[in-house]
Amino acid sequence: MHMETPWWRDAVVYEIYVRSFADASGDGVGDLPGIRQRLPYLAELGVDAIWLTPFYRSPMADGGYDVADYRDVDPLFGTLADFDELVSEAHRLGLRVIVDIVPNHSSSAHEWFQAALRGEGRDRYVFRDGGDLPPNNWQSTFSGPAWSKAPDGQWYLHLFAPEQPDFNWRNLEVHSEFLDVLRFWLDRGVDGFRIDVAMGLYKAEGLPDTPPEDQAFKAESPIWGRPEVHEVYRDWRKVLDSYEGERMAIGEVWTDSAEDLALYVRPDELHQSFNFAWLEAPWSGPAFKKIIDDTLAAVTAPTWVLSNHDVVRHVTRYGNGLTNSTTGLSRARAALLAMLALPGSAYLYQGEELGLPEVKDLPPEARQDPIFARSKGELPGRDGCRVPIPWSGVAEPYGFSPDGTRPWLPQPVEWVVLSAERQSNDPGSTLSFYQEALRARRELRGTLPDEITWVDSSEDALIFSRGPLTCVINCGSESVRLPSHERVLIGSAPVDGHLLLPDTAAWLYTPDA
Ligand code: NOJ
Repeated sequence: MHMETPWWRDAVVYEIYVRSFADASGDGVGDLPGIRQRLPYLAELGVDAIWLTPFYRSPMADGGYDVADYRDVDPLFGTLADFDELVSEAHRLGLRVIVDIVPNHSSSAHEWFQAALRGEGRDRYVFRDGGDLPPNNWQSTFSGPAWSKAPDGQWYLHLFAPEQPDFNWRNLEVHSEFLDVLRFWLDRGVDGFRIDVAMGLYKAEGLPDTPPEDQAFKAESPIWGRPEVHEVYRDWRKVLDSYEGERMAIGEVWTDSAEDLALYVRPDELHQSFNFAWLEAPWSGPAFKKIIDDTLAAVTAPTWVLSNHDVVRHVTRYGNGLTNSTTGLSRARAALLAMLALPGSAYLYQGEELGLPEVKDLPPEARQDPIFARSKGELPGRDGCRVPIPWSGVAEPYGFSPDGTRPWLPQPVEWVVLSAERQSNDPGSTLSFYQEALRARRELRGTLPDEITWVDSSEDALIFSRGPLTCVINCGSESVRLPSHERVLIGSAPVDGHLLLPDTAAWLYTPDA
């Protein structure tokens, strides 16, 4: 039964949005020493790995996803020595470390782009003549045209902000540069990479005009999911495999089909790719069931994710957009149990273990996401899920920064009751529930089959089993009767008798006959 399973296959990975996790330096922005100090909290929470969002040198036009130097730490976040200490301390505590890699674009401050502006090595980016009008009709994911003019009149492509020029992956120099960057961080001991915009990189030859509906992230279009990109990941896989210790990569792949996702995780490509289908789905039994079935049919190393630093926090999504919805919190806790019962690995987003909701009332002057400015305030942007973590205390900065420091985004006064310190003393808190659920999952690790079996149930109440474990999730509005079982391992809310309340879930245990 105990075959050697690589660590990432069933890992619980905790995403750290570095700017917002913990600030040791006292400048109001999270940093690497801050993370190191909080590692015991993560070990106690019971996760297996952390994923760090970009901490590289960057002008921060997109919170660090605009990288100016792929081989150095931005002074805002610390130093390379801080990074090394963080990795060794994480490893000492049994936590793996995944870092972000951003290959679709660099910062406009990157030395290659600066050289390109001077007319040197322009072919490393996508420059075109266009006259007064941009070379094609592509729109930036962050609103507005995907092209900006260089001072000499040529246009350059940026699928995101103008400060994020897209690389030209048809230039082999770009390939060797990134292979080298991978080695740089692998040599420093990282266990894996999260690949930003993994379905980007190549654009269709000739950069044809594209109908607006094909410009959104999707399986394949002139902009996304070009077949050539897979060759890149085959090369990367070879590098990862040449290192000891099961190094891995997970791609950020937004597609509209599970089959497409599967292309990125063919045996000689990436180990995993994010499965965003659930995160995009409403609270619905039939929707969840379809996502689970489609995913398990298409990929052998599935992943599950409910929130990240780019989307509205799921407590709020499941609470009809309200930030103080008890229904939203109850559903979020139930969804965690469902996610953790499924085969594969689960990616958590910092703060979900505290039940943090989206912050929707950030003042316009506080907002920093380029989406807000580029859409001229029409789109709120993603700052609402990036508000710094409330650790302790009764007032801002809630232990995120040293007292007296204002965090880079204001924290709501209501978060006084959500701090990690407060919740850790309360057995009924969401934090205690996450700890308990992760502990239960660890105890079952290696004992459950990879296949799930659906147990007959109503549309709204999903019931599936993996050997002795049965997970019941009630997405309907009526209580449902639990199937027979020996004991309840854990409930997202107290389980009373044989009924499961709406918006809750439970794990039942019945030893194999
Ligand atoms: C995806 C990242 O998660 C997001 O935060 C970023 O803005 C874009 N990629 C561009 O790098």
